[in-house]
Amino acid sequence: MSNIEKISAELENFKINAAEDLERFRAQFLNKKSELQTLLGEIKNVPAEERKTFGQKVNLLKQKAQAYFDEQRQRLEETAPVQQSEIDVTRPATAQTLGSRHPISLMMDEVCGIFEKIGFTTVDGPDIEDDWHIFTALNFPEEHPARDMQDTFFIEQKPDIALRTHTSTLQVRTMEKRQPPIRVICPGRVFRNEVITSRAHCIFHQMEGLYIDENVSFADMKQTLLYFAKQLFGEETRIRLRPSFFPFTEPSAEMDVSCNICGGEGCALCKHTGWVEILGCGMVDPNVLENCGIDSKKYSGFAFGLGIERMAMLKYKTNDIRLYFENDARFLQQFTPAGR
Ligand code: DAH
Repeated sequence: MSNIEKISAELENFKINAAEDLERFRAQFLNKKSELQTLLGEIKNVPAEERKTFGQKVNLLKQKAQAYFDEQRQRLEETAPVQQSEIDVTRPATAQTLGSRHPISLMMDEVCGIFEKIGFTTVDGPDIEDDWHIFTALNFPEEHPARDMQDTFFIEQKPDIALRTHTSTLQVRTMEKRQPPIRVICPGRVFRNEVITSRAHCIFHQMEGLYIDENVSFADMKQTLLYFAKQLFGEETRIRLRPSFFPFTEPSAEMDVSCNICGGEGCALCKHTGWVEILGCGMVDPNVLENCGIDSKKYSGFAFGLGIERMAMLKYKTNDIRLYFENDARFLQQFTPAGR
């Protein structure tokens, strides 16, 4: 009985404050070898007349110890600070910054996509070309200023080789390889020996278009280009063709679209004319067809060439071509598709 009192007093005084205390408590009162558990085992040895009282007291004490232990363990579990670890899995994740496609690539894809819808296929060719594909086959006379070092980057040791100044080279390459009907678009990089300003660069991108078949007319060209302008700049867009000159087309024209900034009313971009020039075009000169092995009596066709940067400047409303080459992330990020 005195043992029961002693253990009871110890139990009263035992304060559980931390996880270690729980362990000590378990050892002292709940372990098989603890004094309290030993007393439980003693019950059967107690003389019969005292056994009932003794048994009740020990059992009560045991229940009290177990209840206090359970209650304190639960309390500690609930109030314990979340385990500190290197990784805080509850923190919101930092968003991954994804790259965006370059606006010139976007514009190139868009322009190609418009022509692909009406049966044009995309072809590719070399940036470094020979005189034949850049000039001679395209009907440039010997004394043409484009052949001058001022405008073209020639390869020093090989004056016959130059960086292509236009993608019209691909007209020649395509016609040399296949017979009509031909319907191709040819996007690519071009190079000109120009001073870099807000409006001109020594590297830029063009897209050439070529359509050769029997009975292809100027009217076919006009409708094709009107379709293109409407697709790119909007259904309300109008076009106009002005007579022009290119060695490889006859007749030749330059095409303007109604200014998509002022809608034709007149602004700084269109120099208050309501029109902006976007491409050169014309009926392929019979000399060019013959140079490329195509019968000019049987076939005719049209060609056009446009500047991708110029399209991008109009469409994205930017006023400095250099932005497309500086790769300033603040500029490029604006072309990230929404939601990324
Ligand atoms: N090659 C010309 C240039 O670089 C653009 C051009 C004009 C291409 C008229 C054509 C065309 O195919 O018919 O400026």
